[in-house]
Amino acid sequence: MEKTLILVKPDAFARGLSGEIIARFERKGLKIIAAKHMTVTEDLAKQHYAEHTERPFFGELVSFITSGPIIALVFEGDNAIKAARQVIGATNPLEATTGSIRGDFAIAVGTNMVHGSDSPESGIREAGLFFPEL
Ligand code: PPS
Repeated sequence: MEKTLILVKPDAFARGLSGEIIARFERKGLKIIAAKHMTVTEDLAKQHYAEHTERPFFGELVSFITSGPIIALVFEGDNAIKAARQVIGATNPLEATTGSIRGDFAIAVGTNMVHGSDSPESGIREAGLFFPEL
């Protein structure tokens, strides 16, 4: 069974869409094995996005994810990474299909509602960062 770390980002949380978003992953067939409401520290954000350190928008990534409360969850299931990314939609909301979270609720890439791990290895690493007890 794969694990994926899902973050309901500050924009989605502030808009009151957390329940709608979490329900979509559950309806897909993924199971919540950890969840918490929290505010991400700068240190945790930098570790989480470490592979993107050299990208021009790294500063934006860190400042956005630390800008307000989020909900962090770990979902488990067969092919959880691919399944969750299908539910989330393309990184750029304008390219995300209708029916996906980003396609339905977002316009800008910098405020794209949800993070989902991009590989099984990232799923394990990121789940461990947010939930060391797992
Ligand atoms: S992905 O999902 O990892 O395959 O996408 P990637 O393109 O590698 O992007 C990595 C994270 O950076 C976010 N992103 C951006 N933020 C701000 N501005 C721009 N231009 C931009 N492009 C990509 C993208 O949403 C990924 O963050 P998360 O939190 O994983 O969604």
